[in-house]
Parts: sequence; C-alpha cells; structure tokens
Amino acid sequence: MANRLIVQTDIVKGKISKYIYGHFAEHLGRCIYEGIWVGEDSPIPNTRGIRNDVVEALKRIRVPVLRWPGGCFADEYHWQDGIGPRETRKKRINTHWGGVVETNHFGTHEFLDLCEMIGCDAYIAGNVGSGTVREMAEWVEYITADGESALAELRRANGREKPWKLKFFGIGNENWGCGGNMRPEYYADLYRHYQTYVRNFNGNRVYRIACGPNTDDYRWMETLMREAHGLMDGISLHYYTVPGDFWKGKGSATQFDEREWHVTMQKALRMDELITRHTAIMDRYDPAGRVGLIVDEWGAWYDAEPGTNPAFLYQQNTIRDALIAGVTLNIFHQHCKRVHMANLAQTVNVLQSVILTEGERMVLTPTYHVFDMYKVHQDARLLETFLETEPYKLDGKSVPRLSASASRDDGGRLHISLCNLDPTASAAIEIELRGIAPVRMEIAGTELTADDMRRHNTFEQPDAVVPAPFDRFRTEGSRIRAELAPMSVTVLSIGFA
Ligand code: AHR
Repeated sequence: MANRLIVQTDIVKGKISKYIYGHFAEHLGRCIYEGIWVGEDSPIPNTRGIRNDVVEALKRIRVPVLRWPGGCFADEYHWQDGIGPRETRKKRINTHWGGVVETNHFGTHEFLDLCEMIGCDAYIAGNVGSGTVREMAEWVEYITADGESALAELRRANGREKPWKLKFFGIGNENWGCGGNMRPEYYADLYRHYQTYVRNFNGNRVYRIACGPNTDDYRWMETLMREAHGLMDGISLHYYTVPGDFWKGKGSATQFDEREWHVTMQKALRMDELITRHTAIMDRYDPAGRVGLIVDEWGAWYDAEPGTNPAFLYQQNTIRDALIAGVTLNIFHQHCKRVHMANLAQTVNVLQSVILTEGERMVLTPTYHVFDMYKVHQDARLLETFLETEPYKLDGKSVPRLSASASRDDGGRLHISLCNLDPTASAAIEIELRGIAPVRMEIAGTELTADDMRRHNTFEQPDAVVPAPFDRFRTEGSRIRAELAPMSVTVLSIGFA
C-alpha cells in the first residue's frame, strides 16, 4: 500500500491556537534555578538574573505561554515567600523534588519579568492543596490590580508600578494526586469555591482552568464537567509518554532498541484516544466547545540520566523525542476545536526539555527543533486532510508509519508537517492538494532526522541532530511526491503563484 495525503485546501476545520505551543517550567531540579535563573551576580550573561541565551532561544520558537510554578510544587507554594528583597525571602524545603532548599529568589516578579522578556503570556498555577482561598485571591489581586489596594501598593513597593496582565490561572494542580489526593466530588466543590475569588481587575480577564484528569480517568472528567463546567474556561489533562513502567523502570532516554522505540510511538499516539474520549464527555456538557481541554503537562518521561539526582528528572533528548513531539503536535492540531492550550513538560533541564544547560553552556534538543519547524502552524487554519499510511509493524504490534497535518497561515501559505515513525525505512508519499488550481507552487522544505535512533545533541556535539533543507520532492500539477527519511520530521511550506 502506498502513502497518500489529500489536503483539502478549501476546507478549514478550525484554528490551531498558538497556545498549543506552550511550555511549562517548575521549581524542579535545574529547570528554574540554573536553567532560567542564575542571579544578577552570575558570570553567565543575564538580564536581571535571567539567562540571556535561554530567553533568546525561547523567543526564537515563539513560546506563546509559560506555565509556572508547578506542577506538584504549585500546591505547596506560598507566593508571599517569593516577593520583596531577595536576601530576606524565606527559605523552604522543596518537599516534592529532592528536599532541596528553595531560596524563593525566583518569584512572582521574576516570573512575570521572564514572560515579558520572552514576549509570552503567563499561566500561573495556584495552590489549592495547602493554600487558602484568601491567599489565591490576593495573589491575583497583587498581580493585576491598579488603583487603591493594599496589595497593589505592596507590588509597587516591591518595584512594579503597573499591574501585569495575567491571562491564565490554574485552580490547583493534580489535585487527584500530589495536589491533595482528593476525590473528584470534593475537588469539584473546592474548584467552585476557589475560582469564585479569582477576580478580574482593571479589564484583566482571567481564563480559569480547573484541574482535570490524569490520563484516562474519565470519572474525574465526568464529575468535573457535571459539577462545574459553567464556572470554568478550561480543564486540564496530564499525559506522559513512558516507554516502560512508571514505578519499576521507565526506560532510558538514550539506551534503547527498536522494540522500545516502537512501544514509545504506541504510547505517544495514545494521546489521540485520550483526547477523543475526554472530548466526548466534554461535548455532552458543553456541546458548543466553549471549555478548552488544556493539556498542560505532556511529553516523554524516562529514568533520570545516570549519575544525576533522580529527583531532578534530568533526561537527554534524542530523535525519538523529536518524533514524539511531531506526532503529538499533529494530534493537537486535529483536535484544535477542543484543545485550546498545551504545555510541554518541561522547558529546561527537566523531562522532555527543549533546552539543556551546563554552567554557561546551552544546547538545543531535537524537540526544540520540532517546535521551531512547527511554529508556522501557530494561529493558522487547520485544513482537512485524509491520510492513507502504510503500517509500521514490530513484534505483532502496528502503528501508522506516517503522521501528518496541514494548515494555512494568514499570508495564504500552506504548511504540511509529516512524521515518519519508522526508524529503519524511508517512506514515499504522494500529496495531493485539492480545492486549488495552482499556476505554480514554490516549496521550501525542512527535515529533522538522524543516522541512529539514539542520536542526540550534547554539549560537545550540539549539532548532531539539527534541521536541514529538504529537497527530495518533485511536483506535478497540484501533486507533490516526496521521500521521507527514516525517523524524520519534515515540514513543507508552500506558496502559490
Ligand atoms: O512534570 C513533573 C510532575 O509531573 C509535575 O510536577 C506533576 O504535576 C506531574 O505529576
């Protein structure tokens, strides 16, 4: 069977929100401290304590939104600890992530400064598990209120005259687990209660996000939607791709064989089933699709790199991770009517990072390059596609060999992203563009591939896996025939004369 993609250029299925390309940074391991915050006195080039190289790299991929401060950390975080002069900020124990000292040197002001430097919106996760309603309400007031308010005065005294815009606010994190081990009925009531006091000040409109289910906990989704859908703008979903067993051994980030590669692809593709089934529940309570499904934690989770603190969740990132990113983003596109935001876990030095750092050195991972190549889809129109793909089989299991999606941007250019999940065989594909009669097509292609499944970028070899121009295609009228490399992510950008 051949591989064939029909792109129906005249059928728009929805808008791919730029927020699908969001990220997540937690006070965990070396993500915030070292990865983002080095302090003003550091020899590492920084602006007000924040690494310049990391900010530049994040700007390049047009990060639209950043989620902070956790994660599990969020439900033990007390925002007042992280404001005021740094030398007097309270030290705390980071109980979730290795019991290390949390200096609170990176707090609300530093985070919102970071967002302004990147040019992205802020998504703050509030504390339901161990915080009070008042504490949450006052955090939002501190950030967004102007005029006469003791909290606005305190913010001014701490150096920020004008309020910030706060776009997204999460009412807790994983409250079924680290955020309080709650039952959905109990959390649904708490959600209704806490969100009442998350106020809109000075025209700032907060998009309220309820804590949603873990993976396939459909009862949680059902309960939350039944009890509180009218009071939320979004509800979260967390799903990680773990090739092995979460508790007994997740698998290595770099030492794996083709069997493990195949299992990883199976598990990454599961995102489609999860979104489909959660959407079916949401559709019953919210047929108009007003409430967004916010996949605010996703990505690969492996065993920590040997020799590193296991609680710091530091892992390398190979071409396999690039494929996980490519297929997952394609899945999000297909569900863009319901998936309004997604946040890859996590930005720097933790889990499926886009950036790794070591002292003053920084390396961009294969996942970073996928975000860079795919950024053309941000806020573009998703086009109807029909994909016929050969299977990629191993050990009696089968996954589709190819994954694809297509969009049209405001300037009228078409962007087609294609993943070949098979690490050993290239794939020929015929792409047919329907609904237009192009006089002439002008195509630019970029591909990301490697000569080995385990290939990754290191501080010594930062360019082992980097995008390259792609020219293994030819056109015939409105058809494009292309040859996709094994284990590759390819993006075609098409203009019409
Ligand atoms: O991303 C790491 C952790 O995974 C987060 O803190 C938590 O929300 C999830 O369990």
